[in-house]
Amino acid sequence: MGDRERSAARIEHDVQTLAGPDYTASADAICRYAYTDVYRNTLGYFTERFRELGYEVWQDPVGTLVASNRPRGAKAFGIGSHCDSNRNGGKWDGTLGVVVALEVARLAKEQGLDLPLRVISFLEEEGSGFGQMLLGSRIMLQRVTEEDLRERIHDEDGQSFWESACAAGYEPERWQESIHELDGLVGWIETHIEQGRVLQDTGNRLGVVEAIAGYVHGDLRFAGRADHAGATPMGFRVDAAIPGAETILELERLAREIGDGVVGTAGEVETSPSLINVVPGGMRVSLDLRSVTGGHLELRDRIVAYAEERGRARDVGVTWTERQRLPETPLDRAIVEALVTGAEAAGEPFRVMPSGAAHDTMCVADRVPSAMVFVPCKDGLSHTPLEDARPEDGALAAEVVLAAIAQRLGS
Ligand code: HGY
Ligand code: MN
Ligand code: MN
Repeated sequence: MGDRERSAARIEHDVQTLAGPDYTASADAICRYAYTDVYRNTLGYFTERFRELGYEVWQDPVGTLVASNRPRGAKAFGIGSHCDSNRNGGKWDGTLGVVVALEVARLAKEQGLDLPLRVISFLEEEGSGFGQMLLGSRIMLQRVTEEDLRERIHDEDGQSFWESACAAGYEPERWQESIHELDGLVGWIETHIEQGRVLQDTGNRLGVVEAIAGYVHGDLRFAGRADHAGATPMGFRVDAAIPGAETILELERLAREIGDGVVGTAGEVETSPSLINVVPGGMRVSLDLRSVTGGHLELRDRIVAYAEERGRARDVGVTWTERQRLPETPLDRAIVEALVTGAEAAGEPFRVMPSGAAHDTMCVADRVPSAMVFVPCKDGLSHTPLEDARPEDGALAAEVVLAAIAQRLGS
C-alpha cells in the first residue's frame, strides 16, 4: 500500500470514528461544541493519537487544543483547524483539518522528517455553543474583550462564556495568555473542506486558498405590537413581521445588485410571541454578510437603512445590533506558492481560489504567515449531515501540506 492509500485509510478511520455516538450529541447529525461531553471526548481522541506519536498535548486557558513535538514557544510550523461542529453538522467540516494535521504528523514521523510541528484545534469555531463564530481563535488573537467574555457572550440558557468556561474547569481569567500558543510559529496551514462546489464542478482535487472573505454578523430587531389576530382590522396593526419580511426580500435583491461576490443571508428568523392567533409584536432577523472585496459593508449599511425606512413607514421600531465582524483576509504569498509547488509535484488537478467561508486562519493570519488548502466536498454540501468528502483527497492534501512545510522550513 502506498503512502496515499495508507493515509486515506487512516483519515477515513479517524473521521468515521469521530462520527460515532461518543463524539456527537445527535444521532442524525454531527453536533458537538464547547464544554459538552462529546466535545471533551473528541479532544480526548486527538490527545491520545498525538501522544502515541510522542507529541506533548495541552490546552490553552479556555480549551483550544495544542499538540507539538517541540517545547512551547519553540520554532515550529502550525497546522490544524477546529473539531467542534455546526449544530446540524457533517463529519468533515473542521474535523478533516485536524485529522489531516494528525496525518501530516504521522507521515513526517514515518518518513524520518524531524519537522517542528504544532497542531492547534480551535475552540468554538462554529459558534454552536455561544452564537459567536471563531470564538477560540478570536480569543487567542485578542479580537474580543474581557467584557465580551464575562458579559456579552452567553449560551442559549443565558450563562456567560466566562461562567461556562469556569464550570468546565478552564481558567478564562488567563485568556490573554492564549496568544502565546502562536509564539515561535513560522507559518500556518489549515486544511478544510471547501463547503462550496467549485472544486467538484471544475474537476479539481485540491484548492489552494489565497484569501478569505470578510464578514459581518448581527441582528435586526423589529418592535411592533402584539394584537389579537382576529379582532384587529388590518389598518389598525403594527405588525413587526411585515418590515422584517420586506427586509429579507430586499437583502437578496441588494446583494445581487452590489454583486462582486457579495453574499447576504438571513439564517435566523423568529417572531414573538410566535403564536398563530397573535399579530407579531416582535421579529428578529440575523444577518450574515460576506465578501472578499469589502462590498459586504456597503450591503450592511444599505440593508440597515432600508429596514429602518420600512419600519418608520409602519411605526415599527428597528434596531441593528452587530455581533461581530472580521475583515477580508489576504493570505501569505510565500506559503501559497509553496502549496502550489507541492500540488504541482503531486500531479493532481488543483486551483488557487478564495474562501467564502470563514475560518480560524483569518485570526492566525493576523500574527503568523498563513494559507489554507481546500478539499472538495460532495455537491458543496456543508453544515448538514449530508456533507461528504473523499479520504483520498484528504490524503492528497496531507501530502501537499507536508511538502509545503518542508519547503518553507528549508528541509
Ligand atoms: O460559517 C462559516 O463560515 C464557518 O463554517 N463557521
Ligand atoms: Mn469549519
Ligand atoms: Mn462550519
